[in-house]
Amino acid sequence: MNKTEYILNVNGKSKNIVSSEDKPLLYILRDDFNLTGTKLGCGLEQCGSCAVLVDGSKVLSCNRPAIEFVNKKITTIEGIAKNEVLNEIQQSFKEFNAAQCGYCTSGIIVSLTELFNKKKIPESKEIVESLSGQLCRCGSHASVLKAVNNVIKIRKNHG
Ligand code: FES
Ligand code: FES
Repeated sequence: MNKTEYILNVNGKSKNIVSSEDKPLLYILRDDFNLTGTKLGCGLEQCGSCAVLVDGSKVLSCNRPAIEFVNKKITTIEGIAKNEVLNEIQQSFKEFNAAQCGYCTSGIIVSLTELFNKKKIPESKEIVESLSGQLCRCGSHASVLKAVNNVIKIRKNHG
């Protein structure tokens, strides 16, 4: 297939990319940006491990061609921490050991970051919805929920 040239903005940095038109965003992130926190799980948009934010909304990156995201702001797990300071969800995951093997964790944190950026105190059904597309073969969801509840508790305490 013919290669095409385009510019992508990831975590605030723009880069010139040359790739086939159908190369999925996940592979561009890993191969061209060296951002390996976003993981390939199913490759079928069914497990959530490849989640990233595009203009603040969760997108599964394993199938959608990267070229679709020209002129958008892409944020990966590496871009969620600011100046190496973990965001409140990452902090809470650390505190509650909410990752086991960790393979699914970046996708889960990305999904929850979308939710908590959009709503200060999400309702239970919104949390369930946010996590429903995020599979974990290690069964970390109980710890994940503890970490989520901790974020909510901190937000409530800080008005
Ligand atoms: S790898 Fe993209 S959803 Fe599973
Ligand atoms: S912590 Fe291992 S897959 Fe979720």
